[in-house]
Amino acid sequence: MSESLTPDLGRLSSDLETLATFRDPKAPGWTRPVFSAIDREGRAFVAERMREAGMEVETDAAANIIGRVRGTGRLAPAIVTGSHTDTVMGGGRFDGIIGVLGAVEAVRRLAEARVELAHDLVVVDFLGEEPNLYGLSCVGSRAVAGTLEPEHLALVGPEGHTLGEDLEAAGGDPAAVSEARWAAGKMHCFLELHIEQGPLLEQAGIPIGVVTGIVGIHRFLAGFEGQADHAGTTPMALRRDALLAAAEAALAIERLAAAGEAGGGVAVAGSPDAGGVATAGRLEVRPGANNVVPAESELWAESRSPDDGWLAEFDRRIEAEVAAIGERRRMGSSLRRVSHEEPVLATDWVMDVFGRAAAVCSLDTLALPSGAGHDAAQMARLSPMGMIFVPSRDGRSHCPEEWTDLEQIGDGVAVLAEAIRLADSTSE
Ligand code: GLV
Ligand code: MN
Ligand code: MN
Repeated sequence: MSESLTPDLGRLSSDLETLATFRDPKAPGWTRPVFSAIDREGRAFVAERMREAGMEVETDAAANIIGRVRGTGRLAPAIVTGSHTDTVMGGGRFDGIIGVLGAVEAVRRLAEARVELAHDLVVVDFLGEEPNLYGLSCVGSRAVAGTLEPEHLALVGPEGHTLGEDLEAAGGDPAAVSEARWAAGKMHCFLELHIEQGPLLEQAGIPIGVVTGIVGIHRFLAGFEGQADHAGTTPMALRRDALLAAAEAALAIERLAAAGEAGGGVAVAGSPDAGGVATAGRLEVRPGANNVVPAESELWAESRSPDDGWLAEFDRRIEAEVAAIGERRRMGSSLRRVSHEEPVLATDWVMDVFGRAAAVCSLDTLALPSGAGHDAAQMARLSPMGMIFVPSRDGRSHCPEEWTDLEQIGDGVAVLAEAIRLADSTSE
């Protein structure tokens, strides 16, 4: 019987708590947005933990922090794991974070148990998985997968600089970002540990979710150009109010998604009638004064589905709705695509490795799809991919109430470490 890889919960908890101190004190919850000084400091802490765990650490041109333990078969492709440590505004302490610090703990336990892997073992803290002010998510994993395009780097944010400039300030090198791309075949597999961010595991009383697939995500920006006018003297019928146009677009997004939602939830990836969800989560209005009829609005929104066809149909309909709203309200309208992530399926043999690893740890598993986006969806372009989830209390996430007990995170880390050991001697 090989030595148990059960994590040291005291050490893991200390790392999680220390990283949680890197937060914007003026923002709600645990706010550590990509490109902020606090995110840079938090990621320096992660790099330090990697070094202490005996890893060689480098920062690539996309500012990903990459820790490596050399395998015995130096030329073998790497087993790669990791996630992200940036958060949404008002977010929690676990989304992405347990996949990075949990992976570092897995590396320590593998070393302590004197497990020698033939493959290199790589842990990545990917830059900026959450959507940033430019509307783009997964900046670091896109660069690795080769999907971070020059037009992404040229996007201009609300503060007037480009994403490329922010990337440089975060420690990357936008001119060399193509060098961050990994060749297909460089990875044996990609494994990601994450919180579920939904209620299914808790409801079922099951400690480990084995992810079957990840939804596709289409992000877009609906813009309206009306006219600024005096709010006291302009009759209602003469107004061209860009905020009201955006409000109508937000309601159309809700209506179209609700009409196409299958069974009220996210269905199994790959299913042709899976349905989907859509959200308008950010609205900017100019000039932004009580007593001025809004002249311009920008509504940032997204749709998600495991079904490409559903996403394409939703795009077609919302484009028509936005144009119709603009026409009805006598103003300019536009719909700009920000990003399109395809739905992906997890790889059978990697799911099987996770199932076997959970069995070694005497933990039950539930197969479930992911309605959240993850760096793993980018990595699936390059490599066999699998993910595991641990339960989220009350299914809450992207809010300060996000919570997973330390013991539950420990279960996930134990399964991840065991899966690394098993993946070393497994291929399809
Ligand atoms: C990432 O958290 C996402 O699903 O948007
Ligand atoms: Mn998230
Ligand atoms: Mn995440």
